[in-house]
Amino acid sequence: MAQNLLGIDLGTSGVRAAIFDDSATLLGLGTRQYSIQSPMPGHAEQSPEEWWKLCAEAVRDALKAAGISGGDLTGISFSGQMHGTVLLDDYGDPVSPAIIWADRRSESVLDEIEETVGSERKEKMIMNRAFPGTQAATLVWIKHNNIPLWRKTVRVLSPKDYLRFRFCGYYHTEPSDASATLLFDIDLRDWAEKVIDSLGIPSGWLPFVINSDQMVGETEDIEEETGIPDGIPVVMGGGDQPCAALANGVIEPGSLLLTVGTGGQLFAPLKVPAASPDYSLNTFCHLTDSRAYVMGATLAAGMSLSWFRDTLCKGSDFASLSDEAATIAAGSDGLRFTPYLTGRRSPVLDPSASASFSGLAITHERGHFVRAVMEGVAFELRENLEAMRTMGVKVDHAVCSGGVLNSPVWLEILANVLDLPLKLSERQEQASFGAALIAGIGSGIYSGWREAAALADSTTKSIEPEPSTADYYNEIYESLKKAR
Ligand code: XUL
Repeated sequence: MAQNLLGIDLGTSGVRAAIFDDSATLLGLGTRQYSIQSPMPGHAEQSPEEWWKLCAEAVRDALKAAGISGGDLTGISFSGQMHGTVLLDDYGDPVSPAIIWADRRSESVLDEIEETVGSERKEKMIMNRAFPGTQAATLVWIKHNNIPLWRKTVRVLSPKDYLRFRFCGYYHTEPSDASATLLFDIDLRDWAEKVIDSLGIPSGWLPFVINSDQMVGETEDIEEETGIPDGIPVVMGGGDQPCAALANGVIEPGSLLLTVGTGGQLFAPLKVPAASPDYSLNTFCHLTDSRAYVMGATLAAGMSLSWFRDTLCKGSDFASLSDEAATIAAGSDGLRFTPYLTGRRSPVLDPSASASFSGLAITHERGHFVRAVMEGVAFELRENLEAMRTMGVKVDHAVCSGGVLNSPVWLEILANVLDLPLKLSERQEQASFGAALIAGIGSGIYSGWREAAALADSTTKSIEPEPSTADYYNEIYESLKKAR
């Protein structure tokens, strides 16, 4: 009899609950959207209670769509937005809204963190520069700026760990999300006590760490809200980036995942954990035992195009804007865009960087702007890829996923600017599918990561770079680099 696995992805704009059978066929999906609250400029918050309520609704929808009852589930696991902070009291109740990864209030404490943990980083305890919205930075900010909240706090969890806590009542975390807090020793796969102490964070606030594919408990007392009875195995899960990588079979060195959705990411598993030169990229723990990965992130990728459409082309859809971009020659006749609408994370950390168009001429039409936005995102990703190459990352293709799959012209631009063949990932569900695979490992259906990752590989279409266009883009890339 087929086994049913539930993967839940707690994203930034909504939650997805997806049920798959053990051969990776999607049986039912439930989704709910939520928004980011910004009570002050630069603040980005969400309600943990709303996450739970909407997740429960999404789970009910997924069960209904799959035509099964909660008791027919073999295992459940979780993926989620990374870096964010959920603060809890003794009873496990949130004492404030969650402060999520997009929050920039902690920009003011980055220098302090740099001075305090710089030396530990050189000892390779943490392999990243602090950036706003990470748990380390948020907690230091609260310590200085919100004493009442600091005093009320008894525990801290990452977003998906809070959601999982609601399913089974355990506070644990796992290395992929714990490393994204910047309080974690990536080599040892355990909390970096020295860093935590030197930042003045009570180590008792942090949850116990177990492996991403470990079963942590069983569902308890959630039947009324979700339709899932007591006793269904709950497996740890992981951050949304590593879960999406697993969903595309990207677990071994030599593979590369390119995601262009709201944000843009390049994700490459490493043989051994290693920091990037000057810590210009992010190194975090992958899901699989002992593996780490390096990631380059362009914060506003699809977001740049959405911004352009919503601000300057009201009423147009993405498909027609893409068609306009396709009529413009490579290079957008000299029009350039830097995609720093929400600052820059890698390969240059500059949270206050701003976006720009340059090289504007009277001959430029709307299609030039659209193409320049797409090319600007692609050049930014190329810079991240080059930084990965200096670490010895060797890849001969990328698996490509995200909303960009709906834009043939943007895919062509990416293949040519990166000068890499792109295998197009056909799965609609990414992180939630990764979570379901983890549920399958933890509940004993799959023997381990390899068996799960083999199920993931469903790509059949690919797109090759065109040599003369790739050369032309290379010239532009080199001149942009010189100009910076
Ligand atoms: C990863 C990152 C985002 C969040 C939200 O570093 O910032 O992908 O996980 O999805």
